[in-house]
Amino acid sequence: MATKIILDCDPGHDDAIALLLAHGNPDIDLVAVTTVHGNQTIEKVTRNALAVARIAGVTGVPFAAGAHRPLVRVAEVAASIHGESGLDGPALPEPTLEPDARHAVDLIIDTVMEAEPGTITLVPTGALTNIAIAARKEPRIVQRVREIVLMGGGYHGGNWSAASEFNIVIDPEAAHIVFNESWKVTMVGLDLTHQAIATPEVVAAIAAVDTGPARFVVELLDFFGETYRDQQGFEHPPVHDPCAVALVIDPSVMTVVPVPIDVELTGTLTLGMTVADFRSPAPAGCTTHAATALDRERFWALVVDALERIGDVRV
Ligand code: BDR
Ligand code: CA
Repeated sequence: MATKIILDCDPGHDDAIALLLAHGNPDIDLVAVTTVHGNQTIEKVTRNALAVARIAGVTGVPFAAGAHRPLVRVAEVAASIHGESGLDGPALPEPTLEPDARHAVDLIIDTVMEAEPGTITLVPTGALTNIAIAARKEPRIVQRVREIVLMGGGYHGGNWSAASEFNIVIDPEAAHIVFNESWKVTMVGLDLTHQAIATPEVVAAIAAVDTGPARFVVELLDFFGETYRDQQGFEHPPVHDPCAVALVIDPSVMTVVPVPIDVELTGTLTLGMTVADFRSPAPAGCTTHAATALDRERFWALVVDALERIGDVRV
């Protein structure tokens, strides 16, 4: 049976690819898409999510806009990586889907509370603001979700500061709430996603699919590759967010280990750091996990396969 997921995202080039992977893979049942401030403002990332839905032919899935800013801090966007629109590069069509009237937090709560317990996996690929608010507004969701598989953090260092990753550091208080609840959290962090590099061979394999959605992904990767080269010194870009979706599709696509992880809230140099304690085997009942090693070939094969299944979509 396909795994039901809610993708909570901030598209975002790699979020867009995560959405395509979730939509195109038969082992995922995408039950809702929610958006959160992050790569750009909530208005821009919501519009981008709806535009991607049109490009990929996603219908019958509710999309809802969520938090416009972090719990405590001033909002920060990643225009240097994702551009002024949040999805610079390809031309975006006008969305055809209407967003759901509910706030993302309410859509998450309703979806989890209406489903059988243990059947909904949350896949956040942006700041954790919506998920934290949902856990506070309706604490029963913590027992009811199957697990959280998130892109964010890392145990070897950051990308937005020396110690911290963007999704966590822009709303560290929200991340603190999410990592400290009793649900299972798997951190698909930079240690893992920096193994998911879109090399020229990967881009060629995607281009060979030769459909509208595949050409869209190639254009996304062209822009993303340029900003990652200029801003972060990467020869080719790491494609973070679909890694979290890939883990839900096939847990054997990466190695995951249990390890206590907490989020730094007071460090002057380390705010938003996801501190993982690898000193000894994780204690029994440890709820936090970290992804460590990626099977690159199988990961990219999943992305290509999803694009092939989506096929050409009339926009
Ligand atoms: C994360 O930050 C965002 O810019 C990307 O979409 C990804 O979710 C990587 O640090
Ligand atoms: Ca993202």
